Amino acid sequence: MLLTLALALSATASATPRTLDQIKASGTLKLGTEGAFPPFNFYQGKTLTGFEVDLGNALGKALGLKVEWVVQPFDGLLIALNQGRFDAVVASHAITPERQKAVTFLNPHYCSTVNIVARKGGPLSRQALAGKTVGTQIGTAQIPILQAIPGIKDVRTFPNDQTVLSALQAGRVDAWSSNGPVVAYMLKQTGQGGKILIGEAISRERNAGAVAKGNTALQGALNAALTRVQADGTYAKLSQKWFGQDIRCQ
Ligand code: ARG
Repeated sequence: MLLTLALALSATASATPRTLDQIKASGTLKLGTEGAFPPFNFYQGKTLTGFEVDLGNALGKALGLKVEWVVQPFDGLLIALNQGRFDAVVASHAITPERQKAVTFLNPHYCSTVNIVARKGGPLSRQALAGKTVGTQIGTAQIPILQAIPGIKDVRTFPNDQTVLSALQAGRVDAWSSNGPVVAYMLKQTGQGGKILIGEAISRERNAGAVAKGNTALQGALNAALTRVQADGTYAKLSQKWFGQDIRCQ
């Protein structure tokens, strides 16, 4: 028991984020993501795929590195990043002042809104959320924004957006809040188009990858790689493939 504890503690203590030189020497870039946020990072059968997975692979290629994906629940990603479980995270994090205290963000790889979503006849605006319950993913940037809506009854957190959508369909919450492109994709996939509607935007995000706090050499290399794939047409091609439009920040 004691030995297990000691091993666990030493594993945590010795886990240090890798430097750019160490990553280059290993030949492999480890990227962390969630795998449940379609069409950005998700599973198609047993295959991890999505816009951010394609983009992360392209960034690795631009740096001459192989990419290895590490998948874990969203709410622990930034802690795992600082513990060195992977070198960078690519999981649609909004750049927020709060998160900037904890990690070092890359330049945003897209911009998007966060919307209020409800069944037909349900609350589709901030105003309509008075007295209502909204569900959203745990660990997300929209939680404090939702909590600040005047008169809102309850903000309930769920492990991922699939579970919030199920709760909305079952009437266990009055509304759902998530990034617009994710809602649009999931409603289309599940054939909920006319029954569930996308309402008001409650925030506009710059969505970015991040490296461990202060890992600036790696930040510089990944930003340079992003600039390159955005300049050479790779980014435009991937954005067209997943969204039918270019979603880079204007
Ligand atoms: N954009 C929101 C945020 O920054 C949600 C991101 C959720 N990402 C995910 N892979 N589930 O908190």
